Amino acid sequence: MLTRIKDLATKLAPRLIEIRRHIHSHPELSGQEYQTSAFVSGVLSSSGLHVQEGVGKTGVIGELQGTGKDERLLAIRTDMDALPIVERTCLEFASRSQGIMHACGHDVHTTVGLGTAMVLSQMAEELPGRVRFLFQAAEEIAQGASWMVNDGAMDEVSNILSLHVFPSIPAGSIGVRYGALTAAADDLEIIIIGESGHGARPHEAVDAIWIASQVITTLQQAISRTQNPLRPVVLSIGKIEGGRAPNVIADKVQLLGTVRSLHPETRANLPNWIEKIVANVCNSYGAKYQVNYRQGVPSVQNDYFLTQLLQSSAEEAWGSDRVQVLPEPSLGAEDFSVYLEKAPGSMFRLGVGFRDRILNYPLHHPLFEVDESAIITGVVTMAYTAYKYWHQNC
Ligand code: NI
Repeated sequence: MLTRIKDLATKLAPRLIEIRRHIHSHPELSGQEYQTSAFVSGVLSSSGLHVQEGVGKTGVIGELQGTGKDERLLAIRTDMDALPIVERTCLEFASRSQGIMHACGHDVHTTVGLGTAMVLSQMAEELPGRVRFLFQAAEEIAQGASWMVNDGAMDEVSNILSLHVFPSIPAGSIGVRYGALTAAADDLEIIIIGESGHGARPHEAVDAIWIASQVITTLQQAISRTQNPLRPVVLSIGKIEGGRAPNVIADKVQLLGTVRSLHPETRANLPNWIEKIVANVCNSYGAKYQVNYRQGVPSVQNDYFLTQLLQSSAEEAWGSDRVQVLPEPSLGAEDFSVYLEKAPGSMFRLGVGFRDRILNYPLHHPLFEVDESAIITGVVTMAYTAYKYWHQNC
């Protein structure tokens, strides 16, 4: 069966590269993937899948009915949105939309999803159950997965697989990880309210800027002294705003930041922990405060058995030296975790780095490029894992 899947994928390779380049040239921002989703649904329909458009706003679902009586439904999820980045590569198929670029490889994800659907649709007689392909919008703003779930995309789904490109792994190889793959990402807003006054008479005012600097310093120090170092927490203040003039003491400062963590229990305690520190500092110096903590996406926690299935399928397909078991998670975020709240699943890293280049630019970089041979690695890995899903107990 592996040989058959590899043959089907190899035959499709020129078409898949054409598809990837088309999507790459026509990137669309989160929530505006109109052309991309129309294109995706066209390809899915012509491969004989049952297609539903407008799921999760601009998302698409394609469903493939197997020929057996297995009740299990396997979902395969990819994302379609691009980023507000000016592409600086000199590729002949570089972005034709000024200021928008597929710099996170979602063009490759969409292509791998389509390629897997094309391969599996040609061997539907080997599939005892259903496969549902989810092409979601708006991953970059961490909303698309929730939109899909709210529109019922995960109804009846037993398990879910996904992938993300990874430039530091060479094309031809993949990475799997057991347990935490990415971090929970929450938004933080702290407002400090002091009392305005003359810059020459600080003792008659409550200086919100100075207190804000104490809050930031105390939070960073407290992480290292009061959080378990084996359960990482990263708190970054990315925006600070306050004050009116050089000689006027500021009465209000707003701090905006992101809070990343891996362990659900650690995450659950963070809002109280932050509020207590802010309260202590502000109370000491007579300021009022507000802490608004908004939970974003949870951490992606890969299921053990599905990760094992991915690893063994990839090792059979490419040899064990081409499958890395990743030792560390990333503190980046991925809204794939929203699907995992509905069904166990696993996401793998697809190597897209050029073996002969010293420098492979990172994701979200204006010079980010992928070695397109990785598309076939992705399609075969995904299709063979889906096949094995039905043909081994897991
Ligand atoms: Ni991405």
